[in-house]
Amino acid sequence: MTVVWSFPTRILFGENAASAVGTEAKALGATRALIVTDQGIEASDVIDPVVASLKAAGIESSIFADVSSNPLEAEVLSATDAYRQANADLVVGVGGGSPIDVAKLVRLAITHPLPLSQYTEASGGDARITKPLPPMIALPTTAGTGSEVGRSAVVTLQSSGQKAVLFSPSLIPNVAVLDPALSAGLPPRVTAATGMDALTHGIEAYCALGDHPMADAIAMQCVALTVSHLETAVHDGKDLDARGGMLKAATLGGVAFQKGLGACHSLAHPLSAVLGMHHGLANALCLPAVLDFNRSTVMPKIARIARVMGVRAEDEETLAFECAGAVRSLRKKIGLPEGLAAAGVSEEVLPKLAERALADPCHQLNPRPCTAEDMLALYRASM
Ligand SMILES: NC(=O)c1ccc[n+]([C@@H]2O[C@H](COP(=O)([O-])OP(=O)(O)OC[C@H]3O[C@@H](n4cnc5c(N)ncnc54)[C@H](O)[C@@H]3O)[C@@H](O)[C@H]2O)c1
Ligand SMILES: [Fe+2]
Repeated sequence: MTVVWSFPTRILFGENAASAVGTEAKALGATRALIVTDQGIEASDVIDPVVASLKAAGIESSIFADVSSNPLEAEVLSATDAYRQANADLVVGVGGGSPIDVAKLVRLAITHPLPLSQYTEASGGDARITKPLPPMIALPTTAGTGSEVGRSAVVTLQSSGQKAVLFSPSLIPNVAVLDPALSAGLPPRVTAATGMDALTHGIEAYCALGDHPMADAIAMQCVALTVSHLETAVHDGKDLDARGGMLKAATLGGVAFQKGLGACHSLAHPLSAVLGMHHGLANALCLPAVLDFNRSTVMPKIARIARVMGVRAEDEETLAFECAGAVRSLRKKIGLPEGLAAAGVSEEVLPKLAERALADPCHQLNPRPCTAEDMLALYRASM
């Protein structure tokens, strides 16, 4: 079997990097941009340098801000109408994973007319994504999803109410602009939850089945950067070195998980779709149980993660055993709840969630296969 290793995104990193958006847009041949964001960001000053930079480069822009956390297909369709009405030829996504994913899907919907359910990963829809998409620039304002460099977009489908992943190399933004100043105002709780999403990407990508030594190295650096910077970013949001470290961690996580994810993301998706829980928090709450579950299958990898997370022990078995505890301890230091029960999840909903977790494709690359009983046991162990 031949495998593909590809890191195609142009990435700009640095304080005030957002002021280069206009030049980048011009280089992509754009004349009119649709900025996709959400209302919280539109109301803040985060969007200002992006609009100013486009204007300075002679590019008109209009703003679409009706994007919710855990975005809906209807929002993608409204944003696509806005793109048409603006006669735009570039999409600029400014925000966390939600606006960036919607921005990616506008490019898809404008060129591919079927309902989004026809393009999901689970339905083999990537084969239907055949036409070239309009260009896109992504500016993340959270540090977690890695969507700015990823080939996935997550959306709740109209037809099923399920949170689905659409996946295609065509969805990767042309340019990602990482400007630490854009995330300086992100509240501690969202900083913590999104940071745990980045950590989960690094850990799950490293443990995922598949032969991808480049993704493995990048995944470990994602873990190391998160361990160095997440606590400071949560407790002192204005520390731009920590914000920059977390933006790097999130982007590296996004690059690494082209290799695949694992059971934790399958457990996390129903927690968001059914209960509306933030995606990063859902991962943070399920990750320790998944590490314990996978330990028997990939002990050397989990021991290595534990070492990077600061666990000190001589033998591999002890290191791997302590890994879940290291995640729990980081989770506590950044002020997140200590389990699903503390986050308001009741025991009765777990069988329904487990059924949906099993239907989610992420766990297919988990190093240890998961049954329906395993999913339920993993939720119970995460309570
Ligand atoms: N495409 C992918 O590969 C991928 C991977 C993981 C998750 N996701 C998806 O991404 C979404 C979650 O994204 P997210 O965690 O980045 O959160 P988000 O985009 O939903 O944003 C969360 C909240 O933070 C606010 N916010 C964002 N940046 C801010 C800033 N700088 N200052 C103040 N407030 C700010 C937003 O207004 C919003 O209220 C979920 O829908 C998830 O499924 C996608
Ligand atoms: Fe994620």
